[in-house]
Amino acid sequence: MKKMIALLLTLVLALSMLTACSSPQKNSDQDTTQSTEETPARNGGNDESAVPELESPAEGPASVSNIASVENVPLLTLNNGVQIPQLGLGTQIQRLENDASESGRKLLNDTSHDAVVAALQSGYRHFDTAHGYNNETGVGQAIIDSGVPREEIWVTSKLWPSEYGEGTTIQAIDDMLERLQLDYLDCIYLHHPAGDYLGAWKDLEEAYKQGKVRALGISNFDNWPEAFDAIIDNSEITPQILQIECHPFAQRLETRELAGQYDIQIECWYPLGHADDRLLNNDVLSKIAEAHDKSVVQIILRWHMQEGFSAVPGSTNPDHIQENIEIFDFELFDEEMEQIRDLDQGEDGRYFNLNYEQMGGFFTNR
Ligand SMILES: NC(=O)c1ccc[n+]([C@@H]2O[C@H](COP(=O)([O-])OP(=O)(O)OC[C@H]3O[C@@H](n4cnc5c(N)ncnc54)[C@H](OP(=O)(O)O)[C@@H]3O)[C@@H](O)[C@H]2O)c1
Repeated sequence: MKKMIALLLTLVLALSMLTACSSPQKNSDQDTTQSTEETPARNGGNDESAVPELESPAEGPASVSNIASVENVPLLTLNNGVQIPQLGLGTQIQRLENDASESGRKLLNDTSHDAVVAALQSGYRHFDTAHGYNNETGVGQAIIDSGVPREEIWVTSKLWPSEYGEGTTIQAIDDMLERLQLDYLDCIYLHHPAGDYLGAWKDLEEAYKQGKVRALGISNFDNWPEAFDAIIDNSEITPQILQIECHPFAQRLETRELAGQYDIQIECWYPLGHADDRLLNNDVLSKIAEAHDKSVVQIILRWHMQEGFSAVPGSTNPDHIQENIEIFDFELFDEEMEQIRDLDQGEDGRYFNLNYEQMGGFFTNR
């Protein structure tokens, strides 16, 4: 009888150990994160009640991630349980992109490097780059030079459509990691819906399972609904993030509604309308800014945060970089949020409109 009991106890112990090993590893920052309860339902994601489709890999390089809230930047929880700092720095520098000479590329990468170092010093822990921005080398070097542990930083990059295809994209991901001098990325986007995006998605899923990336994203797929649907219908892993143009003049209500159906987080590019004067000098925004003793840019970014978006404002000016993160010490009132919502001009408010069905060839041939 004693032998039987001992055998049973051993079995129970062995079973419980097996379960512990196979259950997904949680980030060690769980109790240090700031509540995101204030973020309303309009965010197109961040529904805490949703059941994750597939947890972030518990093994592989990505499992070391340890992201916490810094400078009160909230963390948003994605549909796979992974947490992303809500505010990031956009690193695309369009004015320097066209000079492909060696000195031009050096200037682009040095400028990106310095912006990322300044942002890390200001408390940013989220960076948005892309192969297409030609500055991954500078961004990666900045992370090393900053001295901030890599696992405390969220790094996003994007694959260009010429890198899409099953069996091809996996190599492009390794090349990306090499340019950035990283073991893993926190998010990789398909930059545009073009070419063999479904083949690319399969390789992204493979990289995710291998622990090379913690979240998968689609960028600009709002512009081609058929491509968005094809990803949803054919994916094993539903995208965690959809990156789109979004700011007070183009609030993208339909796209947000669509993304919300799949618990996909919206991340906004051009959150400042690419510094368009009409937006930055808007009367409504100026009055709200005056009332809070903040700048119009801070009001716009605060609006993004209260709407529940992730946003990646771009800047190479250290003073602006600092200013843009100082938005977590005040709150916009409901009526101010409504006044800003009233600035929406729908699709007419966008700065960048492409017909992706017509543009597909351009992206793959570039
Ligand atoms: N997925 C896509 O297809 C896509 C497309 C476009 C962009 N993006 C991403 O989105 C990011 C943001 O886009 P963006 O940088 O083009 O546009 P943006 O963030 O809307 O605006 C950036 C502009 O605002 C200025 N600015 C920033 N902070 C300011 C402040 N406090 N006061 C005054 N001016 C300020 C910047 O100038 P200074 O440098 O002088 O501060 C820059 O000219 C990009 O960097 C990129 O990462 C993605």
